[in-house]
Amino acid sequence: MPESTAGLGKRTVRDLELAEGERVLVRVDFNVPLEDGRVADDARIRGALPTIELLRAMRARLILCSHLGRPKGPDPGTSLGPVSDRLGELIDAPVEQAPAVVGPEVRRAVERLQPGGVLVLENTRWEPGETDNDPELSEQLAALADAYVDDAFGSAHRAHASTVGVAERLRPAVAGLLLEREVSTLRSIVEAPERPLVVLLGGAKVTEKIALIDRFLDTADELLIGGAMCFSFFRAQGEPTGNSLVEEEGVELARRAVEKSESSRCELLLPLDLVLGASFDADAERRVQESTDVPDGWMGLDIGPATAEAYGEQVARAGTVFWNGPMGAFELEPFAAGTRAVAEAVARASGTTVVGGGDSAAALAEFHLDDAVDHLSTGGGAALELLEGKQLPGIEVLDDA
Ligand code: 3PG
Repeated sequence: MPESTAGLGKRTVRDLELAEGERVLVRVDFNVPLEDGRVADDARIRGALPTIELLRAMRARLILCSHLGRPKGPDPGTSLGPVSDRLGELIDAPVEQAPAVVGPEVRRAVERLQPGGVLVLENTRWEPGETDNDPELSEQLAALADAYVDDAFGSAHRAHASTVGVAERLRPAVAGLLLEREVSTLRSIVEAPERPLVVLLGGAKVTEKIALIDRFLDTADELLIGGAMCFSFFRAQGEPTGNSLVEEEGVELARRAVEKSESSRCELLLPLDLVLGASFDADAERRVQESTDVPDGWMGLDIGPATAEAYGEQVARAGTVFWNGPMGAFELEPFAAGTRAVAEAVARASGTTVVGGGDSAAALAEFHLDDAVDHLSTGGGAALELLEGKQLPGIEVLDDA
């Protein structure tokens, strides 16, 4: 298998043989946060640059498309305009913003494009057929181009017109470089990790993470739990949780996970101590609890210092670290120490470090550590589904290598 397709099993943009000026529709994931009409975090745009630059160097005419947010129809607040502006700055070249997703004006804008030129279609979710994977919209998108490249890893779990329908109708349909890198890196975590594989999982809900917990109980060496989901585990063990956020549907799942861990090669670790707050508020009274019993009137809002140290030691001796989900309410400064300590431990680790999921990425950015990990996934739900072992429709539909 050529190096460019290792781990993916799909043809990639490197395999395309394009004549000058051929039109390439590139599905990117430019679903980025906007603030005051500007892009607040451009990581996903930067992630797509290698594919965009490669296609420009191949003298293709580039038609980029993406969704942004979850609009139900045309909505100026979710226009791709600010994204086009940011992309133009990053590639230091003009980027034209189309007024719509498909239609006569878009076709004319495509005709005007020069080799190496870039046009960004409007938010694909302005078209109601997008999320229904509508055949007609898929046809119209396919008719815009001579080839399709999917570099939208963050949307690979969505079977929409711009991720699946169009790829069924437009050949060649190949993977972009970001998609390739994401899939190879994430698959290697479960399939061939450098050991020990240490996995840190945080966040609020066991129900959202149970498939991942199950998979890692089969494949990891250490599974370290943090975030509010630890209270479903503590409730399952009959410990007092005070006013902590406890996801009730998660309690039985947590109990079963603990049971499974008893016969698993993987050690499941829960917090040893906590930081408590009188309420979910940065100004709330705060105290460190040396155990995990939460008294009435208090809520657990972060892992405690002993836990942060123990988890940090596991991360330091790991061959591979995967981190998803904050350890506590890091958006409130008095309860950010556990997440910060874990982020610093991951940044310092000598093993391969991979971070997935929007909240952990936001935490790394907050602590200015986003450049200190080996791979920061641009996918939230897509990264988790891939790690759970699910087939992602946006990848399945592409040309086999
Ligand atoms: C994401 O941000 O996870 C992707 O862009 C997918 O967005 P969606 O959940 O709105 O489909």
